Amino acid sequence: MRDEIKGIRPPSNPAAIKDALDDIARIRGRPLVYPFIGSGRGRGALVELADGSVKWDWITSIGTHFFGHGDPEMTRAVLTVASADVPIQGHLQPNGEYVEFLRAVSSIAPGRCKHVWPSMSGTMANENALKIIRQRHAPAFRVLAFENAFAGRSALMSEISGSAANKKGQPDMGQAHPVPFYDPADASSVDRTVAAMDDAFKKHPGEFCAMHVELVQGEGGFRDAPREFFQAVFERCRRERVAVWVDEIQTFGRIGEYFMLTRLGLEEWADVVTIGKMLCGSAVLFSSEYNPDPGLVSGTFAGYTAGLALGAHVIRRLRADGLIGLQGKIRALERAVSERLQVWKSDRLIRDYTAVGAMAAFTPIEPDLDSIRSMVRKIFDAGVCVYYTGHGPYRIRVLLPGGCMSTDELKEGFDIMERCL
Ligand SMILES: Cc1ncc(COP(=O)(O)O)c(C=O)c1O
Repeated sequence: MRDEIKGIRPPSNPAAIKDALDDIARIRGRPLVYPFIGSGRGRGALVELADGSVKWDWITSIGTHFFGHGDPEMTRAVLTVASADVPIQGHLQPNGEYVEFLRAVSSIAPGRCKHVWPSMSGTMANENALKIIRQRHAPAFRVLAFENAFAGRSALMSEISGSAANKKGQPDMGQAHPVPFYDPADASSVDRTVAAMDDAFKKHPGEFCAMHVELVQGEGGFRDAPREFFQAVFERCRRERVAVWVDEIQTFGRIGEYFMLTRLGLEEWADVVTIGKMLCGSAVLFSSEYNPDPGLVSGTFAGYTAGLALGAHVIRRLRADGLIGLQGKIRALERAVSERLQVWKSDRLIRDYTAVGAMAAFTPIEPDLDSIRSMVRKIFDAGVCVYYTGHGPYRIRVLLPGGCMSTDELKEGFDIMERCL
């Protein structure tokens, strides 16, 4: 398959690629993490780079290539709308793709969150979520969030997010209050988190409007937690009349169900849910109680026409291709990934791992940032695109193209990584 892709067009001139990489570094002020400039071609889990090399794409642009590269159905969805009068649509004069997107998302809406408001990035969906919540809970404004949470990089979402790099030089306006995430090594983890919530509520009575929750922490290290942990947290929120805001921007569609909320059977607790990434757009979903007054959320753009069409396509496709559900292909992929990572753990190649659907991460023996960065680069040079996550210990993560991967392909990529480890 590699040769088939490579044979289509000769590789670009190496000097031109070097210029392009240098220009990216000079113009942006920062080089790429690794020298990835795509050629615009690929097949399934394989992507071709502009230099003619072919790699396993196990990071999938953090979402857009879940169904792989060169996928005919995704291409058809884009081509079908390519001649539409509008490349990008707004909330004032939408076209049919906007309606289809709304219908598709609302058809899978979890629990009470039946309303859908589209936007273009995960951060914007989260900004809308918080405004919607604050309007209903005014004047309460404070937000609880887990340590190492990630909500985006806008001025406000950086405050909720746990990453020091994301906050550097930013004022702390005191709007976000971190509480510990689940710690499997601590038998009293649930009590500790609920006690921290109690403390925050006691310190600022009536001032909290919401708790931001990732059911699998994405940028925070791919950490997950059992249902009982979240249920205790949600119960405490409900007692305090604080909205449960579930951020599924990274988990959406990847974890063997549309929502991690569904996988954990926690749908009924959510007041507001945000989704994005693999949708090629984003949205906030909310219950009728949180339906905002006109004018609170809007914006010139709701989504690229192709993005809206792809979002609806992805939702239909996840079910049509048998990816969703306990017997679905994503769960089968998760089992295969877990088996291999368990062998690595037993062989002491890695310290630990997490695998939830097509999301997986492992902690190498040396989990400091410099070692992780050089490991990511080594794996890239050897033929697999991966990335890292966490804030120390750092972990190598993969966001697998679960919509197209075979077990043979999985083995080949893992063999390459194993040699690097
Ligand atoms: C959980 C979560 N929330 C929000 C965001 C922000 O999404 P975007 O980068 O599309 O703005 C991300 C992105 O990594 C995320 O993982």
